[in-house]
Amino acid sequence: MAGISDLPFRLLNRSFGCGLAFTEMISAAALAHKSKNTLKMLSATADDRPLGIQILGADPDIIKRALDIVSGNAFDIIDFNAACPASKVVSGGKGAGLLREPVKLQKLLKVIVENTGVPVTVKIRSGWDNASINAVEIALRAQDAGVRGLFIHGRTRMQGYSGQVDYNIIREVKESLKIPVIANGDALTPNLVRKLFDETGCDGVAVARGALGNPWIFRETAEHLKSGAVPFGPDVYEIARTMKEHLALIVSFHGEKTGVLLFRKFFGWYTGGMAVKELKGRAFRTGTYDEMLRLIGELHALPAECHSRGNGNPDSVLSLRLVRNPSFSPI
Ligand SMILES: Cc1cc2nc3c(=O)[nH]c(=O)nc-3n(C[C@H](O)[C@H](O)[C@H](O)COP(=O)(O)O)c2cc1C
Repeated sequence: MAGISDLPFRLLNRSFGCGLAFTEMISAAALAHKSKNTLKMLSATADDRPLGIQILGADPDIIKRALDIVSGNAFDIIDFNAACPASKVVSGGKGAGLLREPVKLQKLLKVIVENTGVPVTVKIRSGWDNASINAVEIALRAQDAGVRGLFIHGRTRMQGYSGQVDYNIIREVKESLKIPVIANGDALTPNLVRKLFDETGCDGVAVARGALGNPWIFRETAEHLKSGAVPFGPDVYEIARTMKEHLALIVSFHGEKTGVLLFRKFFGWYTGGMAVKELKGRAFRTGTYDEMLRLIGELHALPAECHSRGNGNPDSVLSLRLVRNPSFSPI
């Protein structure tokens, strides 16, 4: 997730069972220019494996230069983005814009496969809009280009993040391909992850918004898939402990000023569903590590009824918020 899946976020989620993770989407052009902020996005540690890098672009020469630059970084997978719906991305013919140019997308994927030594995957959507659902054609072309796995968000570009996920198109793609298909879209709770598996027959599920302020989704989903049990959510002490851990990671990676600024939105997500409006307001104004730590500590002192994030409920309140308002997008 752009703006989210930095090294601290990935390490934290891995500690709760996230297996394969990806960098934020990285522009091939920005890589080719070796911009400082972009090169920082390539940071990874030995614990941050297996790790894919996701690249965005539409120009084969720029993409080749970008691949050259990342070749020393030992990524396990190169993923290509043909799914991002943002207007400034699709207007340049990139991201989901490539769903309207299947032949061009196939050629770009071939270029990537031929210019890297690691497996290449692609992330697509069901199509551009309801009148042009072409995921099966795109997926077959990707497979022909030598792509080794395909991630599909079961919504069109025009849907953005709202409306129903189309389980049927994911199943059609899965049934048409020989390579692994990883389903995506509203994987917000353990139940919804299982539903994606059951309805589509997919080989894996990719979690995105469900992990915002909710690394427990990985632990709870693993438990649910194994035993069918509906796990309890974390208590407020575990939430606070995890927030402190995340804050420490983010500040050590980005420095205090940027780290605390970035953590503000996570404070909101971690406390989603808790009756802590005033505390959240203070977190959004704070600029120091010590003050943020103190505010997290205040969660313990709140009356028990403020703590509830849905414990005892099959799905955490945070995730329920997303289920009820699936168009929720933090950007
Ligand atoms: C803040 C944010 C950033 C995202 N950035 C990316 C990205 O960089 N690359 C990508 O393939 N998808 C990105 N996505 C889309 C998600 O990967 C996923 O396809 C989408 O949110 C649907 O899954 P979900 O309903 O389980 O969240 C992003 C989504 C959000 C909310």
